[in-house]
Amino acid sequence: MIVLGIETSCDETAAAVVKDGRQILSNVVSTQIDIHKKYGGIVPELAARNHIENISLVTKEALNEAKVDISDIDLIAATQGPGLVGSLLIGFSFAKALAFSNQIPFVGTNHLLGHIYSIFLNDENIDMPFISLLVSGGHTSLFYVSSFDKYELIGQTMDDAAGEAFDKVAKMLGFGYPGGIIIDELSKKSKEGKEVFFTRPYPKSFDFSFSGLKTSVLRYIEQNRDYKNHIPEIVSGFQNAVVDVLLNKLFKLAETKNIKNISIVGGVSANSKLREKAKKISKEKGFNLYLPQKSLCGDNAAMIGGVASVLHKNEPFALNNEDVFSRFKFKKTPNL
Ligand code: KG4
Ligand code: ZN
Repeated sequence: MIVLGIETSCDETAAAVVKDGRQILSNVVSTQIDIHKKYGGIVPELAARNHIENISLVTKEALNEAKVDISDIDLIAATQGPGLVGSLLIGFSFAKALAFSNQIPFVGTNHLLGHIYSIFLNDENIDMPFISLLVSGGHTSLFYVSSFDKYELIGQTMDDAAGEAFDKVAKMLGFGYPGGIIIDELSKKSKEGKEVFFTRPYPKSFDFSFSGLKTSVLRYIEQNRDYKNHIPEIVSGFQNAVVDVLLNKLFKLAETKNIKNISIVGGVSANSKLREKAKKISKEKGFNLYLPQKSLCGDNAAMIGGVASVLHKNEPFALNNEDVFSRFKFKKTPNL
């Protein structure tokens, strides 16, 4: 089964061709970072306008790189949500029209399920159920995944997402957008043992909260006039706090549910410290940890094509009156 995936939920215009849900034949991502950088964050209207300029070229490139023709495609899958509505509408409508004009089945795909699926593109067999920590610019969520059409949201952030906190702290210190990668790199320059300590926020159950931590960094900057002399120690202190909180909740949930298979996905799963510490703890505690390849942590269309292959293997269908959604309402598991 050959699937063309299309992803335009945020500031990446992406198209990919995936075979049998596992083999990436092409994965083209055109990022708009340079456009939004000067505004310190994503400007939704600019994002949508840029998607419309790029979507056909990016799709053509994905088909060319995969060495397939549109007539070889069995299914077209586009991100339906959650994300920026203007951006979603471009990829979704483009994909629908492409499918319609070539008489190919079309499906809308959940962006978050795409991220959760990204570990399967490593071509590993992962036993279900597993626990997935999804950490991105818009989400910090813990899922119990029994299958791709049966999953539960167990915890989520009550305010900022982890990636959003990275971006805001970087902005506070005068660095560009997106801040996660900048903080990751700067932290490597921090003097060992000299990291600034920030109190770890542990809200109840399996929820998260990062806005207080972000404010603590701001207070620290305001109260330490010489802060510019030790920026790596400040950002690595912040990064350590985020990593500790994320991993504490992830392992606590896996232990509570007695599940050995765990994964971390989404843009923030590219973070070096998070990956290194998660591997170390998993080894010590005997968990099987699955991480996406670095190129599949951030937004991409291979994960969309991949998850669509699994969900629609037997019955690709076209619902031509489907619309996009900005937020996805999960039923949260009570009493955990
Ligand atoms: O999954 P993603 O590409 O888009 C969303 O669906 O939100 O995630 C983007 C987020 C941004 O907040 C970015 O700063 C963060 O992922 N990010 C990182 C790293 N690389 C990207 N955060 C921490 N460390 C990184 N290396
Ligand atoms: Zn994403």
